[in-house]
Amino acid sequence: MKRKTRVGLLTSGGDCQGLNAAIRGVGKTLYQYVDNIEIFGMYDGYRGLIENDYQYMRPIDFSGIISTGGTILGTSRQPYVPGKAIVDHEGNDVMPAMLDTYNRLNLDCLVVLGGNGTQKSAKLLQDAGMNIITLPKTIDNDIYGTDETFGFQSAADIATTVIDCIHSTALAHRRIFLVEVMGRDAGWLTLTAGIAGGADAILIPEIPYDIESVARTIERRKKEGRTFSIIAVAEGAISKEDKILSEEERRRLKDANPYSTISYRIAADLKRATGQETRVTVPGHYQRGGQACPYDRVLATRFGVAAARLIMERQYGYMIGVQAGQIVRVPLEEAASQTKFLPTDHPLIQTARDTGAGFGD
Ligand code: F6P
Repeated sequence: MKRKTRVGLLTSGGDCQGLNAAIRGVGKTLYQYVDNIEIFGMYDGYRGLIENDYQYMRPIDFSGIISTGGTILGTSRQPYVPGKAIVDHEGNDVMPAMLDTYNRLNLDCLVVLGGNGTQKSAKLLQDAGMNIITLPKTIDNDIYGTDETFGFQSAADIATTVIDCIHSTALAHRRIFLVEVMGRDAGWLTLTAGIAGGADAILIPEIPYDIESVARTIERRKKEGRTFSIIAVAEGAISKEDKILSEEERRRLKDANPYSTISYRIAADLKRATGQETRVTVPGHYQRGGQACPYDRVLATRFGVAAARLIMERQYGYMIGVQAGQIVRVPLEEAASQTKFLPTDHPLIQTARDTGAGFGD
């Protein structure tokens, strides 16, 4: 009898839209083309691999999930020491436990769906001897080696809708509104939602802001007869004066910061600088929730199918990505090597500037 192909699947890190579409893409393709396939879904990301907690996935498990949010397998954030080890919350190395599950199941390959951090930790699994294929998921779009990650478009849709809704109330009350957008230290999501929502200023981590410059954008609008202003603020936005501080100094400042997020601090500064009533909206995890948009469902499906094809070819050690519209396989060490920040000469930044948005620089 032909040898079985045994594949493990897990979703790790923060969830996002499209995870189930990607899982479905892997499972349906493997069941369709590979005889003697066995697929095991690890529960809650690396936790399932560490604790030997998984489900055997039948074809039916991959049905009816393309439109559901979250992840049918659950996910978790596992601490890791960059470039060195994946650890538990006490700092103990969990690699032996993970290897144990991998070997006990006699897996040919483990497919890891994860964000920027997970690409790096998955590389450690590969270094430890596992056959790994990864898929890039995150609303942050900050994974190196791929133009796009699934989850990003869906989150951009939501953040844009928030900015759209804020417009009418901002206008009615003649207020400045700050909408804080997720994305960690990368500005992709804020820039996209900012342009799509017609924000008047867009503050992203890659372009440190000067509060006087943001205030000038608002004053200019007032002179043009605009009674309200909308600012898309990345959660990782940083002022020019904070940017030049050491990491330690920044941490101390953050601990002493009376404002819960950066937007509240900017709002207080702008109120002082302009005298105008200012409010903050933080959609937070709402941006990661619910159904994937059709674009993400298609992208995640393409990624899932491509991962299955790699498994059929017994090619491991790659992240599936998309470059210039084409699906590509990126060596995992390359994908894990750095974070994809928004280049400050990105054409979309100029597009926003050309339509009058300020960046606070
Ligand atoms: O990486 C995805 C992301 O949603 C970031 O945009 C955000 O900073 C972070 O995760 C939030 O993490 P958590 O879900 O652990 O609060």
